[in-house]
Amino acid sequence: MDLTCYDDFRRVARRRVPRLAFDYLDGGSGTEAGLVESVAAFERIRLIPESLVNVDQVDTSCELFGHRFAQPFGFAPLGLTGLIWPGTDMLLAKTAVERNIPHILSTAATTTIEDISRASGGHSWFQLYVARDEAVADDIVDRVDQLGVDVLFVTVDVPVPGRRLRDIRNGLKLPLQPSLRLAVDLARRPSWCAALARSGAPRLANLERYADPAATAGQLAAFMATQSSGRLDWAVLERLRKRWPRKLVVKGILSPQVAARSKEMGADGVVVSTHGGRQLNSAIASIDALPAIRAAVGPDFPVLIDSGVRSGEHVAKAIARGADFALMGRLPLMAIGASGGKGLALAVDQVADDLARTLALLGVTSLDQLGPHLVAS
Ligand code: FNR
Repeated sequence: MDLTCYDDFRRVARRRVPRLAFDYLDGGSGTEAGLVESVAAFERIRLIPESLVNVDQVDTSCELFGHRFAQPFGFAPLGLTGLIWPGTDMLLAKTAVERNIPHILSTAATTTIEDISRASGGHSWFQLYVARDEAVADDIVDRVDQLGVDVLFVTVDVPVPGRRLRDIRNGLKLPLQPSLRLAVDLARRPSWCAALARSGAPRLANLERYADPAATAGQLAAFMATQSSGRLDWAVLERLRKRWPRKLVVKGILSPQVAARSKEMGADGVVVSTHGGRQLNSAIASIDALPAIRAAVGPDFPVLIDSGVRSGEHVAKAIARGADFALMGRLPLMAIGASGGKGLALAVDQVADDLARTLALLGVTSLDQLGPHLVAS
């Protein structure tokens, strides 16, 4: 088997997935220096192994928001996943159940939260993009509430979308715009085209009902664009906090002050994130922002991290630096793109194995023994 790590999955996915979809997943904003840095910052961290410890039994299970998970990592929310490979949201949800790790469905997913909730027996959580129209935002929250979803992630780092040059150059838009370039691109990816033909074109399934039912696909896309909100501020977040009865997590934080204020406001956790290097290109890497955020919120407040997590070793570094949990966006999607879906469970198992191996090599047997004392400063 030649799919041994993130770079392998990425290399094969690049061959199997149409260029405009691969670039949508792989790309970042601006020069993409922020995207490169998000991974490089993980790689720069050096650890200090402690030997002469019996590591026959290593336990990587951990608790988060009242659930006991098999691993301290899960699937980050991703929009338009159906573009990478049809059926991706459902595959992520089902694999998350099988492997007992969390899955978060995006507002911009290509499958509805109702379908995902049914298929996963309520296991999946939900990520909210707060719509400009208050009635739409409230209705989404109420739908998710009625389904009994346990945790709502409110993404706060998209006041405007980052400028993603690859998408601009590729003319990425929904519905896909016919062009000679796209036709040539698709002709070279027959298995992707066959999968798409079976499942239909990707659609923003959670949001469709709020647009005019008579709208054309183009009008629908334009409506969705107007729904992204630059108006999300503390007042809006506080209103959401009052409306949503269960766990609320603020996703997309790099500032210790914003993390501390989220906690004061009643959030149940934060996700330290650069949105995978897709928003502010010059943002600090999340793994570098993490220690100050942990210090600002104290030792017991749930802190999750994403952006640049490519291996179990990265997960171990995140926890050693103060995170409780890591999320991965591109890694599972590259695994799906590389394999038409079959590689997803393999990728999860590889990350889990790499994490357990890292713990053993460090001389620790459980996640609570990871800490800054193992990080070379
Ligand atoms: C994202 N991300 C994202 N975040 C979110 O809150 N809602 C969303 O709909 C999306 N959509 C999305 C699409 C794609 C293609 C990517 C790559 C990312 C951000 C995502 O949740 C997460 O923060 C990053 O993906 C983490 O970085 P890595 O693991 O991809 O490096």
